[in-house]
Parts: sequence; structure tokens; C-alpha cells
Amino acid sequence: MIIVLLGPPGAGKGTQASRIMQTHGLVQLSTGDMLRAAVSAGTEVGLKAKEFMAAGKLVTDEIVIGIIADRIEEDDCKSGFLLDGFPRTVAQAETLNKLLNDKNLTVDIVVEMKVDDESLVDRIAGRYTCAQCNKGYHDTYLKPQVADVCDGCGSANFTRRSDDNRETVISRLATYHTQTAPLLPFYKAQGVLRTIDGMADIDDVTVQINDVLSKLSA
Ligand code: AP5
Repeated sequence: MIIVLLGPPGAGKGTQASRIMQTHGLVQLSTGDMLRAAVSAGTEVGLKAKEFMAAGKLVTDEIVIGIIADRIEEDDCKSGFLLDGFPRTVAQAETLNKLLNDKNLTVDIVVEMKVDDESLVDRIAGRYTCAQCNKGYHDTYLKPQVADVCDGCGSANFTRRSDDNRETVISRLATYHTQTAPLLPFYKAQGVLRTIDGMADIDDVTVQINDVLSKLSA
């Protein structure tokens, strides 16, 4: 099964992707995570991507398509995968279709997570992750069970993303509306688009996504 999670920054794509990954046994492919890893490692891709990410702009199609094209060739993608943050432009979506078509595969479902712009700034401003295992939290909406201790690995080291500041979030949102939102009619025309209420609380969003996925596999 090939699933695309589509939504603006802070919609909850990463939060839900890690849950779907566990319940459906699919590998999560997050271009944001891959690019941040490249930036940290100081690779050529990382050096090229760094300024775009810091400004809340999209990294070039050429770079992200190259990353995804290589990644989906790996063994753990053979039985399907979950795309989180890719595609983000119509050109990326068209290339993805071609890459999949060459393997006799297709995007099975695109889940649009619909969230009001005002809530997104609040979600992103409160986001932090475990520096050890990358598990995500929120100052208000998703705290660790024991204060300042990661539920996943017990670490007390947490980190915040450098692009999670008000100016960059506003730029990321504008980028979403101009460059990524055109994917909605693109996938609607393919008959694979499903829209869920991303304003609901985290567990309820998971229920909605599982409901959509269960209809697909029924
Ligand atoms: P990326 O890392 O993909 O960032 P993004 O799309 O901006 O999405 P986020 O990771 O910010 O949000 P999310 O939807 O995953 O929300 P989360 O689950 O964390 O990309 C970063 C940058 O990389 C881009 O700006 C671009 O430069 C570049 N890039 C990446 N992919 C690219 C591509 N394909 N092409 C070109 N450039 C690319 O949730 C947010 C917070 O809210 C968390 O704290 C969470 O706990 C909380 N939360 C989640 N759900 C709920 C809920 N239902 N209610 C309340 N709180 C919630």
C-alpha cells in the first residue's frame, strides 16, 4: 500500500505517520527528516537544502525527487510505504507517478489533513522532540507521561527545530498554499483523495485515518 499524507506544516503528518507505521507495518518516508539529516551531516544535498529550509521555502524538486527515487529502491519499501511531506509540488507528484508506474505501482490513497492556519502556528510553536529517539511532543497537546522524560526511550534531552519560529512558519504556510495546495485537485482527479478533520484531537485524527485506510483494504 502506498499512502501520501498531505497537509500544511504542523497539520500532524509526522505525528500520525509514526502511528500508521506501527499499526500498518509501513515504512515512513519523511523528506523533511531526510533533509534535516543531510543538513546535520553536512552532505552536498544538506548544504544545498539548508538555506531553503531556513527561509521556509521548498527545496528544489530535483533534490527531493533524487532522494525519494533512491529511497524507494530499498528493500524495506517493497511492501509499500507512507510518504510524509512528499510530494509537495505538482511536478513532484507527476514524477512520483512515473517512478511508481515503472514498478507497476500507484498511489493508493492521499489523506488530506485539514487544519485552520491559526492553529498551525500554535502547534508548531509548541512542538519539541526527543533528541535521542526523535519522538514528537507538544507543550500543551502531547506531553510525556512523566514530565521531561521521553516515553519512548527515557531520555531527558529534548530539542526544537530551528525552522519552528513564527517568521518561518508564516513563510512555510504561504508556500503550502501556493505550491502544495494544487495537489488537492490533482489527486482528486485521480480519485484517491480523502479529506479528514485535522482539527480534532490527536487520537481522534488517528481513528479517522484508520477508518479511511480500512475502507481501502476492505
Ligand atoms: P517538513 O519537516 O516536512 O515540515 P512541514 O511539512 O512543515 O511539516 P511539519 O513537520 O512542520 O508538521 P507535521 O504536519 O509533521 O506536524 P507534527 O506531526 O510534527 O519540512 C521541513 C522543510 O523541508 C520544508 O519547509 C522544506 O524546506 C523542506 N522540504 C521537506 N519536504 C520537501 C519536499 N517534498 N519538497 C521541497 N522541500 C521539502 O505536529 C506538529 C505539532 O502539533 C506537534 O507538536 C504535535 O504534537 C502537535 N499535534 C499534532 N496533531 C495534533 C492535533 N490533532 N491536535 C493538537 N496538536 C497536534
